[in-house]
Amino acid sequence: MHRNPRKIAIIGFGAMARSLQTSLDQADSGFLIGATLLPEQYRHGVEVPENVAVFGAVEELIDWRPSLVVECASHEAVHSAVPALLEAGIDVVVVSVGSLSDESLVSRLEEAALRGGSRLTVASGAIGGLDVLRSAKSAGLREVVYTGSKPPAAWKGTPADGAFDLAALTERTVIFDGSAAEAAKLYPKNANVTAAVALAGIGFAKTRVTLAADPSSSSNTHKVEADGAFGRFSIVLENRPLPENPKTSWLAALSIQQCIVRHFQNIEL
Ligand SMILES: NC(=O)c1ccc[n+]([C@@H]2O[C@H](COP(=O)([O-])OP(=O)(O)OC[C@H]3O[C@@H](n4cnc5c(N)ncnc54)[C@H](O)[C@@H]3O)[C@@H](O)[C@H]2O)c1
Repeated sequence: MHRNPRKIAIIGFGAMARSLQTSLDQADSGFLIGATLLPEQYRHGVEVPENVAVFGAVEELIDWRPSLVVECASHEAVHSAVPALLEAGIDVVVVSVGSLSDESLVSRLEEAALRGGSRLTVASGAIGGLDVLRSAKSAGLREVVYTGSKPPAAWKGTPADGAFDLAALTERTVIFDGSAAEAAKLYPKNANVTAAVALAGIGFAKTRVTLAADPSSSSNTHKVEADGAFGRFSIVLENRPLPENPKTSWLAALSIQQCIVRHFQNIEL
């Protein structure tokens, strides 16, 4: 039962969960999202398909004995639900990676996984190249730089809104240049990608983050550059949004599907 691909559960049921479910159904994949953890306060306006059991408390989900739980909700969910799942011996994929900038949370998760004999996996989400960073770091990485560029309107409601007259920008303008640790605090909406890069490479204090507003661009771009003993590396992603939610990258939803497939594979290709 532990490896039953039809006993997958999701925490939250928002844009990415819906996209994942549609994609799994269309692919006739044999994987089934059978349950969701959705406490009462998160149910407003959320439509959950009839064949998905809805639980309000993490203990109920544990009793259902999921073979894998995918956190697809919020930082809060990683704090409140994931430790108990790991401690109960249930493997978890975390998508709200920005939550892992909190070192005390990471220690709590590690202890819980050790006690439960379970594993937490981080989804690569909207970014790529993390495998290179992980491999390269043991030989020494001198520098890792993440550059995120978005149209000016996408920075509305962030500290850049006010510090810069976003609507009046006529050329690409750097709105933040600092560490991944500072970026995680000031720009939490970018936190998932910067955290994934920092965790795979040289950590939050040493990873440099540059954020830019670019009026000539209509899409979000992510660039990761690394320099170390292994050589040099640079990758640029221009992600398309999810058709049903322009705020989420399609690639982020696809990366969850990939995590699920890999979790159940006997041979990881
Ligand atoms: N790693 C990446 O690259 C990446 C990319 C995009 C989004 N994300 C993260 O993934 C998560 C989901 O994204 P989304 O686009 O589906 O968001 P969404 O807002 O469409 O859906 C999230 C849903 O989870 C619910 N929720 C929040 N806290 C909860 C909790 N404690 N328990 C149960 N449900 C809860 C919300 O009410 C909402 O319905 C977010 O945290 C987002 O930051 C990560």
